[in-house]
Amino acid sequence: MRNLALALSLALSLGACSTAPSTEAPRLVAPILTSADALDTSTYARPQEARVTHVALDLELDFAGKAVRGTAMLDVLAQPGARQIVLDSDGLQIESITDTAGNPLVWSMGEAAGEKGAPLSITLGDARQVVIRYAANPQASALQWLAPEQTAGKVHPFLFSQGQAILNRSWIPTQDSPGIRQTWKARVVAPKPLDVVMSGILQGKPEELAGGKRAFRFAMDKPVAPYLIAIAAGDIDFRAIGPRTGVWAEPAMLDKAHAEVVETEAMVEAAESLYGPYRWGRYDMIVLPPAFPYGGMENPVMTFLTPTFIAGDRSLTGLVAHELAHSWSGNLVTNAVWGDGWLNEGVTSYFENRIVEEIYGAKRARQEVALDTMAIMETLAEVGVDAPGTALHQPDGTESAGSAIIYNKGAAFLRTLEQDVGRERFDAWLRQWFDKHAFQPATSAMIYEDLKANLAGSEDEAARLRLREWIYGPGLPANFAQPDPAAFAAIDAANAAYAASGDLPQGWRAWTSAERQRFLQNVPAERTAGELARLDETLGLSTTGNNEELFLWLRLALANRYEPAVPQAERFLSNVGRTKFVRPLFATLMGEGEWGQPIARRIYGQTRASYHTVTQRAVDRIVRAD
Ligand code: BES
Ligand code: ZN
Repeated sequence: MRNLALALSLALSLGACSTAPSTEAPRLVAPILTSADALDTSTYARPQEARVTHVALDLELDFAGKAVRGTAMLDVLAQPGARQIVLDSDGLQIESITDTAGNPLVWSMGEAAGEKGAPLSITLGDARQVVIRYAANPQASALQWLAPEQTAGKVHPFLFSQGQAILNRSWIPTQDSPGIRQTWKARVVAPKPLDVVMSGILQGKPEELAGGKRAFRFAMDKPVAPYLIAIAAGDIDFRAIGPRTGVWAEPAMLDKAHAEVVETEAMVEAAESLYGPYRWGRYDMIVLPPAFPYGGMENPVMTFLTPTFIAGDRSLTGLVAHELAHSWSGNLVTNAVWGDGWLNEGVTSYFENRIVEEIYGAKRARQEVALDTMAIMETLAEVGVDAPGTALHQPDGTESAGSAIIYNKGAAFLRTLEQDVGRERFDAWLRQWFDKHAFQPATSAMIYEDLKANLAGSEDEAARLRLREWIYGPGLPANFAQPDPAAFAAIDAANAAYAASGDLPQGWRAWTSAERQRFLQNVPAERTAGELARLDETLGLSTTGNNEELFLWLRLALANRYEPAVPQAERFLSNVGRTKFVRPLFATLMGEGEWGQPIARRIYGQTRASYHTVTQRAVDRIVRAD
């Protein structure tokens, strides 16, 4: 083992290294970036003075009280002379803070500032481990407690967490910044018959306790960004896919879930052959109840998924490819600050498409690229090609113009480079980027320098590839690789025919989902009730099992004040909490004046309580703003 002083100084400065309590295997300590562009203003932590390297949770889930309570023991690495460690807290109820011998430590909670929460400062003295006894607030923004009616089984309650971006401070007292990586372990007590899963590896069998409870143990021995600590608990079962892959879901959902994700092992293999070994051991997924506010969340070793991607024909499994790809881009190499979110999401969206190409072929991959490009164009048309929010790198405190930039422009950047330099060179570059920065944070400046040195090779070539413009400039640079114009040629012809003469397409059911989505997106915006009825009847839109298509139908129908769509929308909005669907449907209704606004208010009045904080916050801005 290294000597401790050396370990401390190295860990606080450059290379990753390890320190260890005497009885356990050495723990990895990831470095902290010290450049100005890596300074995270969403945290109160001052990691260069004192930082958390390991979190050990011992928690009990109280479904009746909607509370998580217990202890968090933190390992601290402090610079000589550092007196305090500062953590993030959003509403945590602190009972006591002690050293490991039980001696109280002096602590104070500062003033709270919205979502950022409050600084929790602990005076360390000689302590290098602190024990925090606490409870999370029943309203903790990261946690959603579902009533049995919100589950498929309708009998047992359900709990899941969502940490990204800065929500985990509402249930874990630690330094909640993506640049401050931590290893962790947890012991979690839950009532029978609920099972618990986490974004770490399950350790052994659950321990039977008195009172109809069980304790589950998990460990994550790789340093991860703290937003990636996640938990879910409910009446769930597991089914294996491959030797290291499997899926959890409620019993009533498990068959359908398993059938939809049965290609996951092949996806992991495809991803590995593209960009190097999968370094996390297992890759499991959990299909959550429909209240989950996102499509998916890349929690390490346990991707969280919405059930709304289950179409029965694996047509929306790009989602799985996406969350899997985050095992490299995001979880292995992580944006140090949220203004560089494209390093996670843009690189992942590119990688996702490469997996889709391997598994489903070039046609589907090219069509998905064309759909993504349409989304970029829509955003640019909306906010303007010069809008600063359309740059990939967002300086601290500024907001990007949305996911089409972070995700799709980010992916378009890498696709442009790939097509320019060729796949072989590009793939070699991306692989070494992941290898070199594995388990470490990164910034836009770092990827720029790396691209210049290891892909371009010279200043001139970097300028020719417009690297700077892509990362720091607005809009789409001139060398943007256009999507294949043939990708949707037949569909665009079908749209033109429909717009001109009302002829509906033949063979709709044999089309790919991307094709159907393309068609629906390009239906003329203004439709009469008669035209909508015919569309629905002929194409079976309101009864489709494909939620991306159902969403496009509902949006089109509501924008045209089509009464028969109101009960359909109401049913959808009562069941589904995915922000991506819910927010635009409420926005569409609110845009329809005296017709739509009362409908939006009435439905939201009934559904708001069933949504996750993330979705509530997004919809509150729309439905309450007037
Ligand atoms: N990491 C994101 C989800 C996320 C982003 C949570 C920002 C909180 C803040 C996840 O990987 C994601 O991108 N999900 C997408 C799916 C994807 C196929 C584009 C989603 O949820 O729609
Ligand atoms: Zn993502």
